[in-house]
Amino acid sequence: MIYTAIWAHRGASAYAPENTLPAFLLAERLGSDGIELDVQITKDKQVVVCHDHNIDRTSNGTGNICDMTLEELKQYDFGYPTAFGHRFAGTKISTLGELYEAVKASDMIVNVELKYTAAQPDTVALTLAVTEQHGMKDRVIYSSFAHYGLEAVMKLDSTAVVAPLYGDMENACEAALAYGALALHPAHSAAVKPGYINEAHLKGLRVHPYTIDNPAIMQELLNLGADALITNYPDIAKGLRDKHLKKFI
Ligand code: G3P
Repeated sequence: MIYTAIWAHRGASAYAPENTLPAFLLAERLGSDGIELDVQITKDKQVVVCHDHNIDRTSNGTGNICDMTLEELKQYDFGYPTAFGHRFAGTKISTLGELYEAVKASDMIVNVELKYTAAQPDTVALTLAVTEQHGMKDRVIYSSFAHYGLEAVMKLDSTAVVAPLYGDMENACEAALAYGALALHPAHSAAVKPGYINEAHLKGLRVHPYTIDNPAIMQELLNLGADALITNYPDIAKGLRDKHLKKFI
């Protein structure tokens, strides 16, 4: 019987501005087992939590994060008014360190997605250093669509936990095992294919599909034994998961 963990995608981002402390703290209150977040590097080499390379969509400012210092970024409002009106006005961008401190007292797993590009090769070293400084190494799983970024993580710290992100991919298990990944992070459309999760399990890999907001697909992945569901609606996924677990007690 597999316990399927529920990980809140960019925090409980259906209910609070994505990748902000309110969204992560809400994820904890809703009973999530983990949170997923994205990191970017500022001009002054600070690791901040944001999905996009620029702040245009999620703040009241514009511009690329790599061209701004942390102090400059902190002037902007990340309350995401186009999605949430004024309810979260005044919310600031968070550094990865601030996020770690905010969730340290919980037992949530932190899935750090590295928005790694060849133009910012120091993303990996800077992120690993913050994780180490805040004593969070045992709670973090790194993922990335840039699989060479995950190989870079393993070269720097062979005890780190990594998982490749992808839509669908030939020989995903073999590729992931080659650099010591713990899990696969496929799109849910790949993970629901017959035998997909079983094959990964037989090869010693966990499967953490993304981003599942449809309750019917959540249920399908629970039935198939996914190890975690990454979702914007952790409350709905948790409700289904807990009901699913009860069937086996
Ligand atoms: O990590 C799961 C999911 O976040 C991957 O897609 O575009 O949200 O980074 P994206």
